[in-house]
Amino acid sequence: MTDIDKIYLVGFMGAGKSSVARALGRRLGWRVDDVDERIEAREKQSVADIFRLRGEGYFRAVEREVLIGLLPARHSIVATGGGTFVDPDNRARMLADGLVVWLDAPLETAIARVPRDGRRPLAADRARFTELFWARRAAYELAHVRIDASRPIEEIVERLLDQVGW
Ligand code: S3P
Repeated sequence: MTDIDKIYLVGFMGAGKSSVARALGRRLGWRVDDVDERIEAREKQSVADIFRLRGEGYFRAVEREVLIGLLPARHSIVATGGGTFVDPDNRARMLADGLVVWLDAPLETAIARVPRDGRRPLAADRARFTELFWARRAAYELAHVRIDASRPIEEIVERLLDQVGW
């Protein structure tokens, strides 16, 4: 698998997608893009404000456009949002475009890492958060590779590179 030139990091909120993307980018010397950051820059609004003022449907439409805009990027790591890979069209595009890595962290880790500070609209209600956690696993399981994301970041990066055969 040495011809891989694009890696997508997927997984639930709090799995460490953005942090692992930055560490992996430094390690490989590749560009790093964060879907949520791009959405916020494009809309000039925080994710929380987009959900609140425009609704989740609007957020998902922008998310899809941002993802499509990133398709041409090569030697690139993309940190997605927790819902990006759950959408079947997004999922098909990502699976065809690069190596999709599921950062799989246990529910307890997600709960501990994601504060209810209003920045993540879908984390405000813990019951809904837990329900989403379980409901989404079937989608994340469709990733090419699964990595235990409860480990320290550097270890996750090493394991990922091992799995890819680098
Ligand atoms: C979401 C996860 C968030 C962000 C938005 C929706 C989700 O990203 O895209 O709040 O549907 O799980 P992170 O996974 O980076 O927190």
